[in-house]
Amino acid sequence: MSALPGDSSQAPDPSVPMMSLRGVVKTFGSGQQRVMAVKGVDFDVAVGETLAIVGESGSGKSTLARLMTGLETPTAGTVSFAGKPLSPDSLAWRRAFARQTQLVFQSASYSLNPLKTVYSTIEAPLRVAGVPLAQRMQRVRELLDTVELRPYDSFAQRYPRQLSGGQRQRVVIARAMALRPSFLVADEPVSSLDVSVRNQILNLMLDLKDSYRFTMVLITHDLGVARGMADRIAVMQQGQIVELGPTQQVLDDPQHPYSRALLDAVPLLSAQGLRP
Ligand SMILES: Nc1ncnc2c1ncn2[C@@H]1O[C@H](COP(=O)(O)OP(=O)(O)OP(=O)(O)O)[C@@H](O)[C@H]1O
Ligand SMILES: [Mg+2]
Repeated sequence: MSALPGDSSQAPDPSVPMMSLRGVVKTFGSGQQRVMAVKGVDFDVAVGETLAIVGESGSGKSTLARLMTGLETPTAGTVSFAGKPLSPDSLAWRRAFARQTQLVFQSASYSLNPLKTVYSTIEAPLRVAGVPLAQRMQRVRELLDTVELRPYDSFAQRYPRQLSGGQRQRVVIARAMALRPSFLVADEPVSSLDVSVRNQILNLMLDLKDSYRFTMVLITHDLGVARGMADRIAVMQQGQIVELGPTQQVLDDPQHPYSRALLDAVPLLSAQGLRP
């Protein structure tokens, strides 16, 4: 398995995009009910970069997130990870891909099992990956420390209902980091949180990026969040990427009318309080 892309023993090759989409189309349903959620999208995400995807509700952002993490297969086009097309046919490849790729959802309340303790939530991916018990225990301890849920003994045995929204999202992030992914897709990771907690979580994600060195796609409604976090911004409208460029350029000099409209509509307040 060592030759597979996504094997965690291999550092990603920086000359090959981590994620690459070519002509990607996704339709749901058929006949009158047919919805074309993604209408032919092409872009690359370079190793180590953070790409923000912004756009109005229903523009296809979450569908794109699911395509990039293999939860949906494209109707047409190709999604490649580390230079290799996602292939549902190769089980070994899919396993390696699944290990290297994580999706963090909007609401921690939906993504956590209410019947599982913090410890068993974070331990689960390690167990599935065959990590021995002693190492799992050690790793969960480290992860809780990393996401600043301290002291360990006070958090490990709690259930989701015994945590605040921000603490729950920290658990989700710790679980996503468990197998040291090289690619993280975060779909509105802070939109269910209030503003003060939001910045804490975003700052945590910036710190984690520094230490884990993953590549990130961050989906957000909030251009302020994109400004504080991303190297480049892709603007999505009705299933298409209408503009993609360096963060500063898109914010200072948007080319597409829809990008300009988005910018006019949203005061860039949320980046305040984010780490420089
Ligand atoms: N499983 C599905 N079956 C049918 N239609 C779907 C499905 N998933 C998404 N859609 C449709 O595809 C379009 C894009 O949805 P998507 O969730 O990707 O948008 P979004 O940009 O993430 O929106 P939001 O900002 O509200 O989260 C919508 O019209 C949605 O109703
Ligand atoms: Mg969405």
